[in-house]
Amino acid sequence: MSVSTGSEIRLRKLTPNCGVEVLGVDLNHLSNSEMEAVRQAYVDHGVIFFRDQKLTPEEHIAFARRWGDIDINKFFPANQQYPEIAEVRKEKTQKTNIGGGWHTDHSYDQEPAMGSILLARELPLEGGDTLFANMYAAYDALSDGLKKTLDGMCAVHSNAAAFGAGGYYKNSDQAGGFKGESLVGEAVHPVVVMHPLSGRKALYVNPAFTVCFEGWTMEESQPLLQHLYKHAARPEFTCRFQWRDGSIAFWDNRATWHYAANDYHGERRLLHRITIGGEALN
Ligand code: SIN
Repeated sequence: MSVSTGSEIRLRKLTPNCGVEVLGVDLNHLSNSEMEAVRQAYVDHGVIFFRDQKLTPEEHIAFARRWGDIDINKFFPANQQYPEIAEVRKEKTQKTNIGGGWHTDHSYDQEPAMGSILLARELPLEGGDTLFANMYAAYDALSDGLKKTLDGMCAVHSNAAAFGAGGYYKNSDQAGGFKGESLVGEAVHPVVVMHPLSGRKALYVNPAFTVCFEGWTMEESQPLLQHLYKHAARPEFTCRFQWRDGSIAFWDNRATWHYAANDYHGERRLLHRITIGGEALN
């Protein structure tokens, strides 16, 4: 079922709790009222999808700039001509993909990125879907007791295990493309954030970058973190996006997780990602 937004734009949910396709829109010719409808869909749903778009790299950058400043990733392989564009690439010969586990981008920054706009450039014949999980829904479904405990807590997020010299990518067949291993660092954020756009509470820990609760050891933190990860990845909070030529996914890093499925060995997959700057979280 699709829902009218008051303009020509319609929204079609992927699942009850996660993700909408925005229909009837050409991102190269967005009027102000359409932009407002798209913005509202993004705020309400945390991840929105578009089909059949024809954006050049310049148009991709121009669309991203309508949302804020571009946050260039320190670690990712960048497009040679357009440094604003990170290349999420897996060659036919590679086994490791980028983003192949639940995470949210840039949670290791003190001002985590607002969102990421990912656009398909080259796709495998089948596979290579991206899964998303809604962290509003995950938070809402926690017990009142656990919500009360988590509401006052903070957690430490680090990128060393992913991007550091001894980290995951540097020890994989993606190593050649990654850079900046000396730039690793960490940040502290509330475990439950008040989302700056929606004003709603969202769970803000993730398996890739959260290392411990502030003031707790890693060993003490693990059982509760693992409980939260298992809870947040429950199928009823997730959706699965199947890419086609011209598809775009645009997610809010403060409200969702994502996971790139790695089920297309022997085929090439290339997506262009632009990440938009955010703000400190409360
Ligand atoms: C990412 O984690 O940003 C990449 C997601 C994907 O390739 O589907």
